Amino acid sequence: MRLVITKDYAQSARLTARHIAAAVKKKPEALLGFATGSTPIPAYAELVEMVKRGEADFTKAHTVNLDEYAGLPGSDPNSYRFFMDQHLFVPAGVNPANVTIPRGDAPDSHAELKRLREFSAAHRTDLQLLSIGVNGHIGFNEPADIFHDSYHLVALTQQTIQSNSRLFSSIAEVPTHAYTMGAGDIMRAHSIVFIATGDSKRQAMRAVLEDGPVTPEVQATILKFHPNCTLYLDAALVEGIAPGLFVQVEQAPKDA
Ligand code: GLP
Repeated sequence: MRLVITKDYAQSARLTARHIAAAVKKKPEALLGFATGSTPIPAYAELVEMVKRGEADFTKAHTVNLDEYAGLPGSDPNSYRFFMDQHLFVPAGVNPANVTIPRGDAPDSHAELKRLREFSAAHRTDLQLLSIGVNGHIGFNEPADIFHDSYHLVALTQQTIQSNSRLFSSIAEVPTHAYTMGAGDIMRAHSIVFIATGDSKRQAMRAVLEDGPVTPEVQATILKFHPNCTLYLDAALVEGIAPGLFVQVEQAPKDA
């Protein structure tokens, strides 16, 4: 793992956006894996600015998303489809025909999982963007006894429901289940770019970066096995974390 320590979250977002833009410049028809949550929002905003300045072009890119709340249609403002359309797909000019994302309101969840698994088996993601949940989840791969290979339906933990309830008008409205890519699908990506910030993520990041077990109880620890994973983390987040010998640590250039 390559850890780039940034001066602040804004710099992490800039460098994450440039990392994604460089991948799509190198391969315009690349399959890009995207994530939701609050953390990637400034990176998406930067990508949209780069598109406006002519520094990035997504018109030929293909996209796949990690997850979606079960039960929510893409027209629901809390759905991840709505989030992606709003923050990236529409303003960055992504072709809707090139978008793959779980359909939260699919009438038949088995058929939906079959569609997603077939997509995943047939297409290897070039660059997967990830961030992390407080309990170490990636996508919606919650703490478990196993790592799932591919897309599956997951029961969200109480902690995740609580933590994501801030975006809903009441906790009762937070869906209890979600579709998510498996840890196996994530690990099959050619490369991974990872962004996180905030004290609430320190414990999970410690498990990822320090010497210690790869365990499905902290799903993001599987990233220790990925051959091409770059993490952009601000200095405040990594304070008190002692990266293991397998982590290549760099300081981001101050003016980047
Ligand atoms: C959700 C998403 C995750 C994301 C996590 C963290 O649970 N399924 O992919 O990493 O939220 O969200 P935030 O960035 O808002 O802390």
